[in-house]
Amino acid sequence: MSLGYSFMPSPFYITTAIDYANGSPHLGHAYEKVLSDVISRHMRMGGRKVHFLTGLDEHGQKVQQTAQKRGVEPQVLVDEIAAVFKGMLGDLNISHDDYIRTTEPRHKKVVQGFLQQLFDQGLIYKGQKTDWYSTRQEQFLTDKDRAPDGSWPEIYGEVTQTTEENYYFKLTQFQPWLIEHIRSHPEFITPRFRQNQVLEFLKEPMNDLCISRPKTRLAWGIELPFDTSFVTYVWFDALTNYYSAVADKGLWPADVHVIGKDILSPPHAVYWPCMLKALGIEPPRQLLVHGWWTVNNQKASKSAGNAADTLGFVASHGADAFRFYLCREMVVGQDADFSTITFENRYKADLGNNLGNLVNRLLNMVGRNYAGAIPAASADEELEQDLRRLWDDSVRKYAEAFAEYQVSHALEALWVFISAMNAYIEARAPWKLAKSADAADRARLDSCLAHVAEGLRLVGTLLTPVMPATCAKLLTNIGRPVAASFEGQLTWSAVCTGSNVAEKCILFPPVEAPQETSAT
Ligand code: MSP
Repeated sequence: MSLGYSFMPSPFYITTAIDYANGSPHLGHAYEKVLSDVISRHMRMGGRKVHFLTGLDEHGQKVQQTAQKRGVEPQVLVDEIAAVFKGMLGDLNISHDDYIRTTEPRHKKVVQGFLQQLFDQGLIYKGQKTDWYSTRQEQFLTDKDRAPDGSWPEIYGEVTQTTEENYYFKLTQFQPWLIEHIRSHPEFITPRFRQNQVLEFLKEPMNDLCISRPKTRLAWGIELPFDTSFVTYVWFDALTNYYSAVADKGLWPADVHVIGKDILSPPHAVYWPCMLKALGIEPPRQLLVHGWWTVNNQKASKSAGNAADTLGFVASHGADAFRFYLCREMVVGQDADFSTITFENRYKADLGNNLGNLVNRLLNMVGRNYAGAIPAASADEELEQDLRRLWDDSVRKYAEAFAEYQVSHALEALWVFISAMNAYIEARAPWKLAKSADAADRARLDSCLAHVAEGLRLVGTLLTPVMPATCAKLLTNIGRPVAASFEGQLTWSAVCTGSNVAEKCILFPPVEAPQETSAT
């Protein structure tokens, strides 16, 4: 059974959102990297030449404010934060090919080039807008910020009307094109139900997009090339990273931007395609929109004080168990909840009992009865045939789910097979067969261990993108090389015959969960 990939080196360009450099990494950041990494590794093993980009969004008001509070230069602050975010990528075993920071010259150059081109095309104009402004909070307010009685809440201090001059991008004129583009490219926004939300948003006429901030208010940004008393609005800056990182690599358009639901509309579904259209550049092929994690049913965020604890599971249970949990627990597109109970359940049941024990049983039986060398299958009865058929079925379902990036469904299908292997071993009862003097029973024992070994080889191969280190260990312990490609490796075979297995191997040792600190 093949996964249906053509083993052609057509490049696959995948990105994550670039995280704000104004806090510590948390579960939401981690999940997006893991999901994108699993897709990247899967595509690489499927024969695609992958370019996986992630990075940091380093400009804007919040960074400027935090730096001021701490009395450091913004650049010093973002350098520190970049090191922490990169550290998380290492901890999670993320295989990105490039890391872009919006303060890098390669990025600034492209942002300024874009701005200049739009300005020269007459698509950027200077305008004036009158707004409510809170000096205490240094932010503009809208009527939504008013208290129910119409007054301004205390936290804003004195609120005054100010008129500010800014530059505007003629977004409005691209609205009909965008609606048509979304309608004619149903794969553009995935999962599909998100597309309807965007089209709903587009029913209202859009406003032109303010793409500048006067330096008097915000100095920490990329200067407008045609007016250096302004810097670029942070979203115009940030979105451009996807292009600036590959400007000289010939990789555009991106195959998929992986993002959270909060930044779909308007930034990714509206601003970005319209900016590119105006510049005469193709839009990205797809936006893969995931939902939000809560922790113990509370929003995962720095302020809730609970999100950082979840990353503690990487240290306690290992990056692979954490990666598996995130991929298995969240249906891509929907929200999910992280809790110690569900984590420990998956660790013990799915990983330890279902997969880990199976490996140990195999090593044990092969060690005891075959001096550690996996026997050749000889008997071939209904039980074996059923197991092989189930593999074909599972790998097909896995591939189908993965084609839509539904990783949790793919894993579900794979675990049906792993459970079936456990049921198979129970049904065959090799420990009984080993005691029998009957030649037919010995043949069944050969087949049983050969089938379990081959089943585990297949599982270890297909699961490598999700749990790279664990699968490498699994495969090595059954005497097989680490899996680098799916090509020719996902069909039932006899390659394990004669392989020497390790004496024992604990893939998922019992461990303590990190202590929970109470949220809020
Ligand atoms: N800097 C912008 C993105 C610019 S992309 C050109 C930003 N940064 S962020 O740090 O706030 O979020 C980064 C990503 O993490 C976003 O895709 C966001 O949806 C995701 N998550 C942040 N918190 C999350 C959860 N609690 N759950 C899942 N993902 C969430 O937005």
